[in-house]
Amino acid sequence: MKVNGQPYRTIWLEGKLVKLIYQPQIPHKFEIRTLQSYQETAHAIQEMWVRGAPAIGAAGAFGMVQAVLAASPHNYQSFVADAAEVLKNTRPTAQNLFFEIDQVLACIKASNSWEEACQNAVAQANQSADESVKACEKIGEFGAELLKDGDSILTHCNAGWLACVDWGTALAPIYRAARDGKKNFVYVDETRPRGQGTRLTAWELGQEEIDHAIIADNAAGYFLSGNNIQIVFVGADRIAANGDVANKIGTFSKALVASECKVPFYVAAPLSTIDFNCNSGSEIPIEERSQEEVLNTWGLSEQGEFISVRTAPAKSAAKNPAFDVTPAKFVSGIITEKGIFHPSELHQLK
Ligand code: MRU
Repeated sequence: MKVNGQPYRTIWLEGKLVKLIYQPQIPHKFEIRTLQSYQETAHAIQEMWVRGAPAIGAAGAFGMVQAVLAASPHNYQSFVADAAEVLKNTRPTAQNLFFEIDQVLACIKASNSWEEACQNAVAQANQSADESVKACEKIGEFGAELLKDGDSILTHCNAGWLACVDWGTALAPIYRAARDGKKNFVYVDETRPRGQGTRLTAWELGQEEIDHAIIADNAAGYFLSGNNIQIVFVGADRIAANGDVANKIGTFSKALVASECKVPFYVAAPLSTIDFNCNSGSEIPIEERSQEEVLNTWGLSEQGEFISVRTAPAKSAAKNPAFDVTPAKFVSGIITEKGIFHPSELHQLK
């Protein structure tokens, strides 16, 4: 996708360096940061410099490349196994992180020398990133068929191109439809506590000149019940074998209201987000993040500095689960690169 007319991916490899769009300051500042080592890449995933399931999958794969390139030819196998653990321990919910790290690890294990392992790891990580872009583009094509000219869409969190290597998942159909000449309108949930909707989705849609309005998280029921919204598109961090979907906290309540209001609720995700080892959503680990994200908010001051301000009483504590699970029965369909499937049909994709 383009930023100020120039095409970008969210993350890429340049030799031993991982480069990424630094997301915490968007929409106020657009900056590319460079990560020198797999430890720095792990830190960037944990601190959400890069976030969104497919994007952190790519970060994990590129981190593994950094690890093998930094290893000694004599003990690289144990070095990369340790690095994989460090990278996997950054965020627990998004399946793509584990999937992509394991893909690179398998290539390294199958290599006969350190030199071969380095070559194979670079090729695998770059190929995964390219395949991720193609998968998201296909998701866009399949999902766009669900959109009529003039439809309004509700989306939650950021499942756009910033959450992926390019294109996005839930927003890809909207970008495809716009390129095909359809005029749609997007209701963007602000997505407390980190505000991925306000900060990232609204910024992306603005860059693509797609009409949208940010709504308070609490307002979705009002708009869904008022015939304002024809369809809901969200992404996923992990999909269990039975079709239960873990996605950003608040997704479940949107699905419930959509079901009550008879508005179709679609989940868009590449196949790499499906975890067939998880039988149901209750087995998906849910990340608990810092209380500070709920107790404070942050943004740009009038002086142009990024500041955090406390909004809660000084002595209050907070709870901050980052994701929730939407039961399969509330999901109208899962849009993948292979087509749109009912949750009960997922076993066909195994
Ligand atoms: O905590 P985040 O910002 O990494 O959470 C992101 C989401 O929940 C997205 O909706 C999900 O990863 C799908 S992204 C294509």
